[in-house]
Amino acid sequence: MSEVFEKKILNGKTAVITGGGSGINLAIAKRFAEHGARVALIGRTKEKLDAAAAEIGEAGGSATGHPADVRDYDALSGAIKAASDAHGKIDLVICGAAGNFPAPALGMSANAFKSVIDIDLLGTFNTCRAVFEHLRRPGASIINISAMQAFTAMPLQAHVCAAKAGVDMLTKCLAIEWGPDGVRVNSIAPGAVDDTEGMRRLAPTPEIRQQLTRGVPLKRFATKDEIADLALFLSSDAASFITGAVVVCDGGQSLAGLGISMMSALRPRA
Ligand code: HXC
Repeated sequence: MSEVFEKKILNGKTAVITGGGSGINLAIAKRFAEHGARVALIGRTKEKLDAAAAEIGEAGGSATGHPADVRDYDALSGAIKAASDAHGKIDLVICGAAGNFPAPALGMSANAFKSVIDIDLLGTFNTCRAVFEHLRRPGASIINISAMQAFTAMPLQAHVCAAKAGVDMLTKCLAIEWGPDGVRVNSIAPGAVDDTEGMRRLAPTPEIRQQLTRGVPLKRFATKDEIADLALFLSSDAASFITGAVVVCDGGQSLAGLGISMMSALRPRA
């Protein structure tokens, strides 16, 4: 249980979470459940969803799993309808399904580039589009999971940078279009997060991890729980006037960028 919040602030709410079977999204699902929300997990692998829902259930929460690929609009719409039927309504959404692999632009086929655009950007649009009629009322909240790649160009990440930049612009456009209905739409942009598939792919060795950590002013990676706490705040009534925001949670890494790497190299800490 988070020590940041003292009461169950999502009591009576239902949340749909794509990519909810693992990683940051599962941490968000657990945090939401701890705070009274019923959670519906959507992902490609039924076994992962079932295991995650069971874990949440054993901890005293309420969770269901609804298999679907966010790239398949009809299957996704069906899963969202099943989630709404199972829980009676939908109030909160986390668009977290994502794909990544490190590859240079010349090392990926058109289909490789498209696969990440389709999961991250099209999948986020599909989820928002399909869920809207289920939550079109004041108090509803959508959070799209972005990344520092949205605003920081990186080698081996052209596909992810393009996709996440698109996700953030989608967030802003939907915030404008859906604000009059009372639906808030925000992005969370995490930096490096410990114990995630993304960082296993991008920082596979202790040396790379150490090098990355050097560029973070707070000198460590985020925990999944820290991202979950931010999602909890943004989904709660405490954030009721925040929409169209891209909230960065990266320990200051994107602020410092190359500057801190150079400082570390030129002036080692005493
Ligand atoms: C070059 C690659 C490749 C690689 C796959 N491809 N890996 N090309 N280098 N390392 C190519 C394949 O050859 C194929 O192209 C195309 O990509 C699609 O691959 P498939 O395996 O057929 O697609 P699919 O099964 O749909 O899988 C999608 C995936 C996969 C993105 C490629 O890695 C995946 O399912 N990932 C989900 C889990 C994940 O990535 N989690 C991390 C998210 S982290 P051809 O031309 O051969 O057909 C994250 C946060 C980012 O997003 C920020 C971190 C800081």
